[in-house]
Amino acid sequence: MTQRSLVLLKPDAVRRGLVGEIVGRIERKADWRITALELRTLDRETLEQHYAEHVGKVFYEPLVTFMSSGPVVALVVEGERVIEGIRVLAGPTDPITAAPGSIRGDLGTITRENLIHASDSEESANRELKIFFPNLA
Ligand code: PPS
Repeated sequence: MTQRSLVLLKPDAVRRGLVGEIVGRIERKADWRITALELRTLDRETLEQHYAEHVGKVFYEPLVTFMSSGPVVALVVEGERVIEGIRVLAGPTDPITAAPGSIRGDLGTITRENLIHASDSEESANRELKIFFPNLA
């Protein structure tokens, strides 16, 4: 099942110089391809669209503030079961509970600054890809 996932390397990944490390882990996964990659600073409007399902949750404002605190790297990754696979590679939201070997398990610190976003379903991926890469074929 070939899929596309929208991946964001969050401002903490860029600030800490971990972009190469994280992109490398994605690239080394056999049969996955990075088909778009861009450094950009996200405005509030983009983040409100992206995180629409979380409006009103206690972490919503801190999340939007954090995600606009510096540039992110937005990627499109394609490949076999890539949506589930990148979430496994990333590890759970809270880095303390993430297994060694996962991105958050090896490199993460606190829940807010957890390095990476990856689409959680095909439906989310389609919605998020339209926000970040509207011209994708
Ligand atoms: S939920 O309610 O289960 O859907 O939430 P979850 O999937 O765990 O997290 C949704 C996104 O919110 C981020 N998050 C937080 N940001 C800041 N502070 C706190 N405490 C916090 N808790 C969760 C989490 O990293 C998810 O962001 P993305 O970009 O999707 O990884």
